[in-house]
Amino acid sequence: MRNDITRILAATALGIALSGTAFADPVEDSLVVETDDGAIELVTSAPAPDHLKDAVDTIWSGWHYREAETRDLQRDDFDNPGMVFVDRGLDAWNKEMGAKGESCAGCHEGPDSMKGLRAVTPRVDAATGELMIMEDYINECVTERMGLEAWGTTSDKMKDMLALISMQSRGEIVNVAIDGPAASFWEKGKEIYHTRFGQLEMGCVNCHQDQAGQMIRADHLSQGQLSGFPVYRLKDAGLVSAQQRFVGCVRDTRAETFKAGSPEFKALELYVASRGNGLAIEGVGVRH
Ligand code: HEC
Ligand code: HEC
Repeated sequence: MRNDITRILAATALGIALSGTAFADPVEDSLVVETDDGAIELVTSAPAPDHLKDAVDTIWSGWHYREAETRDLQRDDFDNPGMVFVDRGLDAWNKEMGAKGESCAGCHEGPDSMKGLRAVTPRVDAATGELMIMEDYINECVTERMGLEAWGTTSDKMKDMLALISMQSRGEIVNVAIDGPAASFWEKGKEIYHTRFGQLEMGCVNCHQDQAGQMIRADHLSQGQLSGFPVYRLKDAGLVSAQQRFVGCVRDTRAETFKAGSPEFKALELYVASRGNGLAIEGVGVRH
């Protein structure tokens, strides 16, 4: 009882009063994007993957929970404010910035050599047995193959590169592995997802599964999917990566947070990504 009251007080103080809030279904809509190469339709809802079937019927991209004006920005690359960052990523890709003048392009040729990677990441590196998020792959090249200082996990240049690489898999269906060498990381991520944090004593599952569809003030709670990441956030006027979003969500429960790029949040990213197995990678999504 006392705990409940503490939770409600904390929730109210944050403006997150979950009881008595309104429910709204994800908007019925489909996402066809005008690109330089013609229009493509993205899979933004799908039957839940097997591991989630007991709890959830249908998985939905966060795009379905946003307002019409926000959804519209993602229908045409010309209107999508995230594309500026993809262009910046391409400039960096081609730039001879390594200690000996190496460039990403020098070894990998075009960014399209990364096609498909985003849809299967995070994944366990076969050689080392380590769980790799995209940032790890990039930093491995930046440090070991270009002789540079590692890029900050949530730095602008890192996020520009995430956007560029993510775009190469646009339309591909998320299919991260959760078995074999990934299983132990996946279990760890699953546990974190179901752990209650902070004064609100809420875990990811409480908001993004139990309360998905509820309105928190003007905010329509989504399933917290990653298929749109990195996303352009109108509120921040910039890109937000999955790792950054996790920090923000945990902070909103008034908890001490794991760091972006920590083993905990990497495992969490694998688990959250696996909840979206079946959705299309959006390249760079647009959110409010
Ligand atoms: C107190 C409720 C709450 C908790 C707990 C919470 N979130 Fe969120 N989260 C939100 C809100 C509100 C948003 C913004 C609206 C939306 O997309 O749901 C959001 C957005 C997100 C998004 C962006 C989805 C998109 O398509 O843009 C992701 C991913 C996410 N959360 C993951 C998590 C994870 C992982 C956890 C656990 C560490 C978590 N959240 C915990 C409230 C919460
Ligand atoms: C000196 C050559 C070299 C340079 C420069 C280089 N890479 Fe790599 N990169 C590699 C090699 C080798 C691998 C591992 C083998 C592979 O998968 O291609 C790799 C792997 C990767 C992977 C994982 C690919 C996969 O499919 O597993 C990513 C992502 C990546 N590099 C991004 C970059 C980015 C971004 C840059 C520029 C900032 C860069 N690389 C610069 C040689 C290089």
